Amino acid sequence: MQTLKEAYKNYFTVGAAVSAHCLDEAADTVAAHFNTVTCENEMKYNSIHPHEYKRPDFWKMRHGETPEPPEITRRERFIHPSQETDFAPADKIYNFAKAHGIAVRGHNLMWHASYPWGIFEQLSADEIRKNTLEHFDVMSSRYPDCYCWDVVNEAVDDHGGYLRQTVFKQKLGDDYLLDIYALARKFFPDTELCCNDYNEYNPQKRESIMKLLETLNERRLVDVVGCQCHINAAMTDKDFDEMRRSYDMYAELGLKIHITEMDVNCIDWKNPEKTVPENELADRVTRTYRRAFEIFRDYKGVIENVTVWGVSDRHSWLNGFKNAEGRKNYPLLFDENYRPKDALRAIIDF
Ligand code: GLA
Repeated sequence: MQTLKEAYKNYFTVGAAVSAHCLDEAADTVAAHFNTVTCENEMKYNSIHPHEYKRPDFWKMRHGETPEPPEITRRERFIHPSQETDFAPADKIYNFAKAHGIAVRGHNLMWHASYPWGIFEQLSADEIRKNTLEHFDVMSSRYPDCYCWDVVNEAVDDHGGYLRQTVFKQKLGDDYLLDIYALARKFFPDTELCCNDYNEYNPQKRESIMKLLETLNERRLVDVVGCQCHINAAMTDKDFDEMRRSYDMYAELGLKIHITEMDVNCIDWKNPEKTVPENELADRVTRTYRRAFEIFRDYKGVIENVTVWGVSDRHSWLNGFKNAEGRKNYPLLFDENYRPKDALRAIIDF
């Protein structure tokens, strides 16, 4: 069997998200099949600047139970984040990639979900600006060779509004993204800057994504649209059409596209009755990969990179998450023992 990167050498680079804790067992597969990697969590703020603040239970918060904000201890470390860092997990992946001639996608410089919960709400706008500047400085000094950075991850609102209400928007103002992307340009002048989000083919969300891209693009602050592509094995023809429509619209802006976090979920958490029955799973996942890659190949020249969100089903976040009655998900290209799945064969033999 050909490797994935050989099969796509005339189309786009192919990548995988990897985690430091399972890099050793995934290393041979990654080196054989992929020409780029993304750190699954290791380059996010919370990993680079570890702290003791735990995120409250997500489900309780959804039901209106919001705990008291934590008390800030040693406030200085949030204003000067270079004082407390742990680079070891990200270094492990970055150095592995460099040693194997694999390019690294930087993920990410700012993501509302990867900051100590309840802390930045208690900082002033000026303190947050200092934090951001110093954090970007730290990242550009330590990881100068990422060929692309996701700048502000998932900045767009999910419910038809324009921008997501985050502590950064609330403190820095509605135009905060212009400043953050300009700062990224300053620290990473030769690196592609990417605006990465999910549900990128949902027509309502796409409108907001387009508006943000236009605003950034007018000022030359963005180069790449990141389409996460966390898709579902129950994708319909209409969904696939919307995928194409999204790529057409993003490409019209003159931007490149990266598929940044692809996986195929078999469990519909919101509608368990739509969950794919066990005996159809493998086939549905294979068909979904085949179809998505047919589309990606049609956008050769526009799509620069396709990254899958993990290597083996053993470590997918979709198996770690609270899924319907603990059912198993099979979202990736290699099985629990790193054996190629039919989904991999289907996208290699086209
Ligand atoms: C988002 C983030 C990723 C990852 C996934 C789930 O899509 O961009 O970094 O955390 O959620 O694991």
